[in-house]
Amino acid sequence: MIEPDFLHRTRTAYDSMAARYAELFADELTDFPLDRAMLAAFADFVRADGGGPVADVGCGPGHVTSLLHALGLDASGVDLSEEMIAIAREARPGLRFEVGSMTALDIGDGRLGGVLARYSIIHTPPERLPQVFAEFHRVLAPGGHLLLAFQAHDDPAEGVESFDHKVALAYRWHPDRVATLLTALGFTEKARLVRAPTEDERPFPHAHLLLTKTAPAAQAP
Ligand SMILES: C[S@@+](CC[C@H](N)C(=O)[O-])C[C@H]1O[C@@H](n2cnc3c(N)ncnc32)[C@H](O)[C@@H]1O
Repeated sequence: MIEPDFLHRTRTAYDSMAARYAELFADELTDFPLDRAMLAAFADFVRADGGGPVADVGCGPGHVTSLLHALGLDASGVDLSEEMIAIAREARPGLRFEVGSMTALDIGDGRLGGVLARYSIIHTPPERLPQVFAEFHRVLAPGGHLLLAFQAHDDPAEGVESFDHKVALAYRWHPDRVATLLTALGFTEKARLVRAPTEDERPFPHAHLLLTKTAPAAQAP
């Protein structure tokens, strides 16, 4: 099958800087207390609802997969970049990491208690994002939880735009737009956090959305 251009470009870009990325983000979010709070809440909800397996989709070097594991979750990582997965496997031999794409996950229907996609949906072109969200819905069990983090757009009317990400073409979304797409697929929003960027993250605000799969997939008309 021919791979869409955006996947090829994203993979190549992250392959070429995987080691540098791993070095920069080795510390499992020490300087991001609000992000850690959302991850801790996500982990609490997954554990309270039976503690099913959790996929960190677009896991990069696996530093957040490792944090989820430390929070008591049966966490594994999936990433498009073979280099990222090689680094994750070497640094964290006790955890499972696989190469794969969020556009077509190699995970059975309803198998997961949670999906984390932290700054990994940002490289998916807007018209393809509903397909990715449908994959997240498919692999989650009923009542399963989804946590997303992404650079936020502040104008709900405009909703989404591309921005100059340092690694590969990326898109920032207004959280309302993302929530609307997910609600249409059978998710219910539980909480959201929009925080100011740190000095290194400027200029855009950062959003975290926590949702639950509450309804089966909508039937095609
Ligand atoms: C900005 S990094 C985020 C890494 C990690 N989640 C974190 O919080 O630091 C984006 C990661 O998403 C991965 N990615 C992008 N598109 C993907 C896709 N379609 N399927 C799987 N991984 C993807 C990239 O290879 C990269 O490792």
